[in-house]
Amino acid sequence: MRIDIITVQPGLLESPFSHSILKRAQAKGLLEIQVHNLRDYSTFKHNQVDDYQFGGGAGMVMMMEPVINAIELLQAKTTYDEVIYLTPDGATLNQSMANQLSLKGNLLLLCGHYKGIDERIREHFITMEISIGDYVLSGGELAAAVLVDAIGRLIPGVLNDETSALFDSFQDHLLAPPVYTRPEEFRGWKVPEVLLSGDHRKIEDWRHTQALERTQQRRPDLLK
Ligand code: ADE
Repeated sequence: MRIDIITVQPGLLESPFSHSILKRAQAKGLLEIQVHNLRDYSTFKHNQVDDYQFGGGAGMVMMMEPVINAIELLQAKTTYDEVIYLTPDGATLNQSMANQLSLKGNLLLLCGHYKGIDERIREHFITMEISIGDYVLSGGELAAAVLVDAIGRLIPGVLNDETSALFDSFQDHLLAPPVYTRPEEFRGWKVPEVLLSGDHRKIEDWRHTQALERTQQRRPDLLK
């Protein structure tokens, strides 16, 4: 999979993809991520990318020309399955969306800034609009990083058995059960007996029950 990201703040995306699982995905050749500075696609003086909004009001709007120029130049080189705009008024990201996107070929991500992008870009170029939650970030960059992380780890071949995504919270509409590691006892706090029993059937049953209880307590909406 190839993911291209268009942003006015490329510096914000310098590091999140250079660690851990996403780093390994790229090293394995399963994922390629390229960050593009929107200013490089502006033909205006001082590489301008934003302008005042028609009708007045505070806040600048990302102009059509540089954004469309960037999208079209990238589309000339790569076929994208989706052109995704990160915006607080998009559909809220969930595990099911991440699963579906992880099976796509290539994605083009556009990070919003200021008051957002000229509506005509949304109408004519954007195929999906995604929010990472009901709060407003200063731009779409961190949202893009979250999206790429959620998708990247699910690309077939990225995780091995040990890190398998199958047991993640949300993967089966349940939160993950509690986990423990050494020592067996610390300050009198003990690891649940069943986990030390070696009985894998019993352990699986216990984990499932714990996952159900945890979901019932914390996120009953997931069980509906
Ligand atoms: N840009 C600003 N806030 C955002 C959010 N919550 N999700 C996606 N993009 C955003």
